[in-house]
Amino acid sequence: MITPPLVFGIESSCDDTACALVDGAGRVLSSVVSSQVEPHRPFGGVVPEIASRQHLGNWPAVSREALEKAGLELDAVDAVAATRGPGLVGCLLVGLSLGRAIAYGLGKPFHGLHHLEGHLYSPFLTLDGEPAADVPERFHGLVVSGGHTSLLEVDAGRVRSLIETRDDAMGEVFDKVGKRLGLAFPQGPKVDAAAEKGTTSKGRFKVSTPKDEVYFSYSGLKSQALREIEAIERAEEHVRTEHTVDTLGQPALDLMADFRAAAVRQIVRRLEQVHRRDRIKTLAVSGGVAANRLLRRELTAWADDVGVDLRLVPLRYSGDNAAMIAFAAVVRQRLGLGDDPRAAVVASRIPFGS
Ligand code: KG4
Ligand code: ZN
Repeated sequence: MITPPLVFGIESSCDDTACALVDGAGRVLSSVVSSQVEPHRPFGGVVPEIASRQHLGNWPAVSREALEKAGLELDAVDAVAATRGPGLVGCLLVGLSLGRAIAYGLGKPFHGLHHLEGHLYSPFLTLDGEPAADVPERFHGLVVSGGHTSLLEVDAGRVRSLIETRDDAMGEVFDKVGKRLGLAFPQGPKVDAAAEKGTTSKGRFKVSTPKDEVYFSYSGLKSQALREIEAIERAEEHVRTEHTVDTLGQPALDLMADFRAAAVRQIVRRLEQVHRRDRIKTLAVSGGVAANRLLRRELTAWADDVGVDLRLVPLRYSGDNAAMIAFAAVVRQRLGLGDDPRAAVVASRIPFGS
């Protein structure tokens, strides 16, 4: 059974080429992600020029596979959605141009989406082709990724930003610290795995609680972690070379455990502050870093403790994917929103929420 509108979603803001089909009830009929880990690995991070060329090469197979997995042809589609930003401009251009052309060619509605809007609603997606959970009219969304650390408040489709990072994003800091340790790209999941093998000690990293202005900040934690890596190198307990989680020594594993604990503690502290003030009812947690094991455990414990209805994004949809883009378009279409496919443009930075 397919509930209209059937949305074809496209995501290409960074290094993943993704296409998905999601119906009006939020059922994910197919979600295909082609990641580009290999071509970027020698450089330790995403190289924009390589990424945009890879999108062009990957697109035909990814889009075909998404349609085949859903058992559908393109002309069955009722609407098209593509990410318009923020992200790498060359990469965004590939996906948005294809999306605009398909919508215009089919004469169907088009949605040019903010990447965060995709993450924001992704915790309501379910696995195995079930309809998505009901999206409450009012909820809080925590988006933690390589580019964002944002606490948002959604009210009848209107999004207000409550807390942003004033410097680095949480995922970005995991990547940089992991890279300095010699771990391969993408480093975030490996730092998480290293931390699982380490033992935390008290007091290595302090988490300050700003009183007047509430913001996230990760650059101080990053700098301190980098200095601590230097210290274990000086003590010759870590050699600056390529590492896997299995070749890291115990001092490095313990350092990662402390680093991750401090990064997660900051999130929980800020949520406590906001909850005291605003009473969070439902918290939807999304983005690549929402796969972090400690973050999931700590948020679950906190939400249980204070009685918050916690929606953690399913691991399949935590990283960048097109199901979240298509589903956000379903939500937009329910609100009567849409964009002109001839006018949509990409942008590397776009503010999100008032
Ligand atoms: O949402 P996403 O796929 O792309 C962006 O929109 O940025 O998030 C990717 C980020 C990367 O920084 C990656 O290292 C991080 O999410 N990440 C993690 C984990 N899994 C992915 N960070 C910490 N722990 C993880 N388990
Ligand atoms: Zn993302």
